[in-house]
Amino acid sequence: MRIILLGPPGAGKGTQAKKIINEFNIPHISTGDIFRKNISERTEIGVRAKAFIDNGQLVPDDITIDICLERLTYKDCENGFLLDGFPRTVPQADALQEFLSKRELSLDAAINIVVPEDVLKRRLSGRRVCVHCGASFNIETNPPKLEGKCDFCSSDLIQRSDDSLETVNERLEVYKRQTQPIIDYYSNKGLLKNIDGYQDIAKVFEDICKTLGRDPK
Ligand code: AP5
Ligand code: MG
Repeated sequence: MRIILLGPPGAGKGTQAKKIINEFNIPHISTGDIFRKNISERTEIGVRAKAFIDNGQLVPDDITIDICLERLTYKDCENGFLLDGFPRTVPQADALQEFLSKRELSLDAAINIVVPEDVLKRRLSGRRVCVHCGASFNIETNPPKLEGKCDFCSSDLIQRSDDSLETVNERLEVYKRQTQPIIDYYSNKGLLKNIDGYQDIAKVFEDICKTLGRDPK
């Protein structure tokens, strides 16, 4: 399966990605996670990306396209992949299309997780992420079993630096301006699957599996 996950900040892309990759046994490629890893390792890409991410802006296409397409050449992508947060602009979508066409490959689905904006803001302000494995929790809607600790690896949970109210508002505006056009892009290709993301995490996953023609395990 070659799947892309679309949806605004806080829609639940990362949360659903973890479940989808288990179900379909494919790698999870999140450009946001790749950038955060580079930032924590203080690489050149990390330094360049940080300025954009902290302001709620998209990292420029040339950096993002290179980093994502390079990742897609790894051996673990031979049998498919799940892209989370890429593409986010029309040039990125075009670059992905060109990459796949050259290899005579195609996407199976573009899953668009739809959630009302007020819910997105509440989710992002309550989000806590694991410093070690990146698992995402929410103090209101999806709390960890032990406060401040990851259910999966027991590491500390922190708030993401771009989850401040001001940066969240900017991220949502940037989403509308730059990313929403690719909804039409994939709709025109007949690949778009809209999923109601304002439901229980398990129900959202069930709907995603159904739309991909699979009964969840
Ligand atoms: P990225 O890390 O991709 O952030 P994002 O798209 O803003 O999305 P989020 O990760 O904030 O939300 P999510 O949809 O994954 O939600 P989650 O599952 O965590 O990108 C960060 C930045 O990197 C960008 O702003 C940009 O600067 C840069 N970047 C990345 N990719 C780029 C690209 N292609 N081009 C240019 N720049 C790029 O869930 C959110 C919260 O809600 C959690 O607390 C979770 O527990 C909770 N939750 C999830 N589902 C539910 C549910 N069904 N019910 C209740 N609560 C739920
Ligand atoms: Mg995410």
